[in-house]
Amino acid sequence: MHQEKIEAIKSAIAAAEAGNQDELEAYRMKYISKKSVVGELFAEMRNIPNDQKKEYGQLVNEVKQTAEAKFQELIEKVNASSKKKKSTDLDLTLPPTNVAVGAIHPLTATRQRIIEIFERIGFNLSEGPEIEDDWHNFTALNFPENHPAREMQDTFFIEKNPDIALRTHTSSVQVRVMENQEPPIRTLSPGRVYRNEAISARAHCIFHQVEGLYVDENVGFADLKNTLYHFAKEMFGKETKVRFRPSFFPFTEPSAEIDISCQLCGGKGCNVCKGTGWVEIGGSGMVDPNVLENCGIDSQKYTGFAFGMGIERIAMLKYQIKDLRLFTENDVRFLKQFKSML
Ligand code: PHE
Repeated sequence: MHQEKIEAIKSAIAAAEAGNQDELEAYRMKYISKKSVVGELFAEMRNIPNDQKKEYGQLVNEVKQTAEAKFQELIEKVNASSKKKKSTDLDLTLPPTNVAVGAIHPLTATRQRIIEIFERIGFNLSEGPEIEDDWHNFTALNFPENHPAREMQDTFFIEKNPDIALRTHTSSVQVRVMENQEPPIRTLSPGRVYRNEAISARAHCIFHQVEGLYVDENVGFADLKNTLYHFAKEMFGKETKVRFRPSFFPFTEPSAEIDISCQLCGGKGCNVCKGTGWVEIGGSGMVDPNVLENCGIDSQKYTGFAFGMGIERIAMLKYQIKDLRLFTENDVRFLKQFKSML
């Protein structure tokens, strides 16, 4: 009697089908779960006379294994058919979903471009600390004891006597390089600098500079001019004009401000260049022999030139940015505009 029932269940299992998750679940309820027909066969065990229990148990276990093996088979079939369906659902003609890509910060992009231009003409890169001692920021650079730049209104001092300050320019890196390397030296030092200034559209207490230094035998002012002409044309375009205006820095002699023709009006005169047609991008000059000597370089044998340019200023001219504060406000509407520089 049992045998018949068991055979009937076995053939029902063999014939079972499932085409989706619901049908799989129905199968599970019917043949696998505690309350399934197979579960009932197990419950029946207690009514079986002791001498038949072993044989009955074997039969029921066989049914259970058959039911489970079939269940696995059905699961695989259902999975395989749903995968197939998905791949036919794929529509290759749909437009792609937009991936939100970020943008390089305009200051980073500008610094990178400046480095690229100078690397091609043989400048390497060097760096120095943003927290500097008096020697590297001022004294070795020939700043007299009473120079106004040393005073509180310009410099953020961290400690007095001995003086430790946030560097006010990247010229401190010149000193560090010359102290540690023999000429020929051809190096570029980009970095952040700090000055105690009120924040406005044109000034900030934190900004970036890039310093250039070239020391070798027979380096002259013509080399300085040619290098910066080359830079201005590479950075701003062939039409750009460069002008050197006599100036003073304690660490260069002679010294000159570097002006380029205004990028907005092309030199005709506008608001940005205050009607002059020229805008300043940095300072430059021949390294003062005192500075060479302070750094252990023989000023009879070697000469050199140096320049320091504002990276913000260059970015503002190149991308026509009117307010310096935009660089640090993190407004995505501003930053988004530089996506194409990726
Ligand atoms: N360090 C000067 C400044 O911050 C710029 C400069 C660098 C001038 C090198 C001459 C030579 O204004």
